[in-house]
Amino acid sequence: MTKYITKKSGKYWPSKEMKKIAWVNDDKIYKQADKNPVKFWEKLAKEGLVWKKQWDKAYVEKLPYFQWFKGGKLNFCVNCLDRHLGKDKTALIWIPEPVKEKPVKLSYGELHEKVCKFANVLKKLGVKKKDVVAIYLPMIPETLITMLACTRIGAIHSVVFSAFSSDALKARIQDGKAKVLITSEGYYRRGKKELLLKKAKKAVTGTSVKKIIVVSRFGKKVSGTKYLDFQKELEKADSYCKPEIINSEDTMFILYTSGTTGKPKGIVHDTGGYATQAYWTAKWNFNLHENDIMWCTADVGWITGHTYAFYGPLLNGATTLIFEGSPDFPNPGRWWDIIDKNKVTVFYTAPTAIRMFMKFGDRWVKKYKFSSLKILGTVGEPIDEDAWDWYFKKIGKSRCPIIDTWWQTETGGTLINALPGIGPFIPTVAGKCFPGTKHIVVDKNGKKVKTGKTGNLVQCSPFAPGMLHGVYKNHKKYIETYWKRFKKYYDTSDGAYIDKQNQIRITGRTDDVMKVAGHRLATAELENAINESKIVSESAVVPVPHKIKGEVPIAFIVLKKHNPSEALEKQLKKQVDKSIGPTARPSKIYFVKQLPKTRSGKIMRRILKALLVGEEPKGLMTLVNPKSVEEIKEIISKK
Ligand code: PRX
Repeated sequence: MTKYITKKSGKYWPSKEMKKIAWVNDDKIYKQADKNPVKFWEKLAKEGLVWKKQWDKAYVEKLPYFQWFKGGKLNFCVNCLDRHLGKDKTALIWIPEPVKEKPVKLSYGELHEKVCKFANVLKKLGVKKKDVVAIYLPMIPETLITMLACTRIGAIHSVVFSAFSSDALKARIQDGKAKVLITSEGYYRRGKKELLLKKAKKAVTGTSVKKIIVVSRFGKKVSGTKYLDFQKELEKADSYCKPEIINSEDTMFILYTSGTTGKPKGIVHDTGGYATQAYWTAKWNFNLHENDIMWCTADVGWITGHTYAFYGPLLNGATTLIFEGSPDFPNPGRWWDIIDKNKVTVFYTAPTAIRMFMKFGDRWVKKYKFSSLKILGTVGEPIDEDAWDWYFKKIGKSRCPIIDTWWQTETGGTLINALPGIGPFIPTVAGKCFPGTKHIVVDKNGKKVKTGKTGNLVQCSPFAPGMLHGVYKNHKKYIETYWKRFKKYYDTSDGAYIDKQNQIRITGRTDDVMKVAGHRLATAELENAINESKIVSESAVVPVPHKIKGEVPIAFIVLKKHNPSEALEKQLKKQVDKSIGPTARPSKIYFVKQLPKTRSGKIMRRILKALLVGEEPKGLMTLVNPKSVEEIKEIISKK
């Protein structure tokens, strides 16, 4: 079996075989790109994409805003589909959760036809360029079809994670003022039917949504004038839709993510810049060729799903595989079976999933060969050495490089990682900045720190093409979140250090954002959800380390007058489910009499965290109620 890595002076490097097949295998690329990043990206944009009109100016910067390929015109859908027509290639493999249900394969031609048809459905409903279309769908082919259909006509898609609650969906619909919502009857999860339409119906009341298009997953079809059946509408539509010509700097999609305040932000991504970064990062990080089958396990409700489950592989004319269900259903061998059966060559997942599989024990991986795999990827949170090692040995069979990619919803595509043909692949180290991008580590005053020192990770100008172009209709939030602290640098809100070889290690978020099983959540978002309950006086949420999920939220709650009870705990967990979704559910709730606060009324979450992890809390002098600390310590010790 081909070995794609080799060990030299204690580190893993690409083998000769990997160097031979890699798109890039010479580390001179970093220096070349560095000389003139704008020119570098300009060349990539020309080479990688089909443009209707070349840009007038490659990069325009007027901070806090910047634009890529200004004046350039293109259509994103044409870049994903039309240019690969006639190659008779599979674009999508969909694996449904029920083992008995047959996988669905769509060629580029078939996908193109369905996308065109659905684009015509949207047009018939009056959806125009720049209108927002809300998509509340699970991992099924229709999700890809509807998203691409939006890009064909220049509508802006706003995908909402299917595990989010009705309230969370409503808030996102209201922010984007979508007139059309696409959802499904539901989907299968752990053998059960998860009902989406029910939640969607509740969410649209009192919003701008006029039409709801429903994918029938379990066989029941909707009828009427407000609710339309996806398949029926598709059958009536023309099979070709002329692509709209879109300005490079026009918004292609918005995707909501958590920040430090309670309300999620609509991250705005443009068309040409995003497409350029999605195309090249997918190509170089995963060494994608047209005969590759890539499986990115992320749900499309998150940015990883957008860029690497859907768009990156399609832009490159490769095959993407998506799976509807849960990783360990009907047994913990399901994922590995899918890899072997479908000959997946690139596998991209999150450390949380790897840690979960480690816990199941090796017997579940022993049965599988993994001989088709060439490259493994990880994303979403720091990967610990044990998980890296297990992934490397048990799945990669010590043959495949692990590409640990650092990036964010805001960055659209990956930014820091090793390249498979260059390496090195070092456990827990993300790697170097993607060619043509620059990140440094600064102290709290924005001054570059010494090599090897930990500080704040920031991005330098010119900002990468895939970067966000604002927070949807919220200029203030955009400035406050990303440009206030360091002005001329983009603030990632991550901590990191960079060694002498320019290798970057991410140390985690520096703000009140946590990563729970790879999902991004804000403490304030959870507190808001809890405080919505009438019985709550106030609350504080802190993340604590968790063996499998990376972090989990713990809530401290002061009740108005009720006595603490298990029933109340359940009720409050349900409240979080209702407001955000079960992903955000606190793993524990402590009912306390008071929260530790400073004189100015600031809740000291830092102290709560110290108490939870068994450290001596510092800074008690600043508290107005130091007694609260002893009280809470006792409550924690009893539970
Ligand atoms: O803290 C970093 C962490 O995930 C955050 C971004 O989360 P989200 O917007 O949900 O996007 C996740 C997928 C791109 C970052 O600020 N993060 C992401 N990748 C890594 C990581 N932390 C360490 N190593 C990574 N490879």
